[in-house]
Amino acid sequence: MADQNVKELTTDDAPVKARGLEGVIALESALSSIDGQKGELIYRGYDIHALAEGASFEEVVYLLWNGELPTEDELETLRSELQSERALPAPVMNILRHAPDDAHPMAVLRTAVSSLALYDEEADAMNDEANRRKAARVLAQIPTVIAAFDRLRKGLDPISPLDDGSMAHNFLYMLNGEEPGEAAERVFDVCLVLHADHGLNASTFTGRVIGSTLSDLYSAVSGAIGALKGPLHGGANREVMRMLLEIDEQGADPVEYVTEKLEAGERVMGFGHRVYRTMDPRAAILRDMVKELSEEEGEMKWYEYSMAILETVRDEKGIAPNVDFFSASTYYQLGLDPDLFTPIFALSRTAGWTAHLLEQWADNRLIRPRAEYVGERDRTFVPLGQR
Ligand code: COA
Repeated sequence: MADQNVKELTTDDAPVKARGLEGVIALESALSSIDGQKGELIYRGYDIHALAEGASFEEVVYLLWNGELPTEDELETLRSELQSERALPAPVMNILRHAPDDAHPMAVLRTAVSSLALYDEEADAMNDEANRRKAARVLAQIPTVIAAFDRLRKGLDPISPLDDGSMAHNFLYMLNGEEPGEAAERVFDVCLVLHADHGLNASTFTGRVIGSTLSDLYSAVSGAIGALKGPLHGGANREVMRMLLEIDEQGADPVEYVTEKLEAGERVMGFGHRVYRTMDPRAAILRDMVKELSEEEGEMKWYEYSMAILETVRDEKGIAPNVDFFSASTYYQLGLDPDLFTPIFALSRTAGWTAHLLEQWADNRLIRPRAEYVGERDRTFVPLGQR
């Protein structure tokens, strides 16, 4: 699989320096590939458009974990496994009950996932089968954590997970207490498909670094959640919605609002990408979806604000939107709270994180880059009493 254009470096070579590791190939992966020039994203060889159109999230999970799309029987087996692992251990539910109502849901999720390890007898078992089972467990339990915390902080009782139905269906049910309509379930499922994996992004890299020390899956997923929380990564979707809501509350003109931001040297959340030089294909799919949703609901303002912002940032800065830009208004139109947008991203990306961990452990090597030391040298030590 070695790329002919990539030079294998040895410790004798001059070190390569790349700020933010831009352009550095740190490892080989057969999971997903991004062509930043063409605006193309593939999972295991399948174009994201085809998967968004035709595959359920569970099929994508199977694809990422196994390398092939499932047959009907294989899919049913995976579905049953995920359905059977949805309930949380009682002590983890207690942690959610005691979490402050105003806690950041990503902090709660990070804490809950870390604590799940305490109640999994296989937490430290590092064989392939145990790791694969833990991947299913954590993927099945994360939706329950997010929905239970959301209800508890609103003074409502958590809703027990269904023992059937898709992840999308069950999650929306546990959140709202009523079964979602087919259209909402389908839109949400497509969102999960679109966010499932994305090359060696910051959270996936974080997870693989942790995995490469042969630490356990829960540690790696908790670390990845921490990385995803940041506004330069998964936290951007929440910030996009904050911006749209602020425009609405102030009755501001979106073009003027965003022009002022750019003139002040501020970043517009939901724009720009380390790899894409053109529009993120996921943003294009979500743009069309949010337009449809808005038309169905007869509420076009979020779409209209978004398009005005898109055109302004494109014309002023030549920067295109990323996945977070249109996922914000999509989730909002589905009635989801803005501070749940990033946990929902985590829910989906757990498929990718766990697939990357399984891939890392199949051929592990410790990930350990170096820093260029720019501090002082040759200083004379002065004992404490003489300083
Ligand atoms: N708004 C305004 N300007 C932006 C921008 C944004 N969202 N994203 C990048 N730029 C500008 C930078 O100011 C910089 O301009 P300069 O060279 O004149 O200083 C240039 O584009 C390159 O930005 P840089 O930060 O070096 O790119 P990066 O590859 O390190 O950063 C992101 C990538 C994603 C962190 C960056 O685009 C960003 O902060 N986006 C907003 C957050 C976001 O939506 N994150 C979700 C990513 S999926």
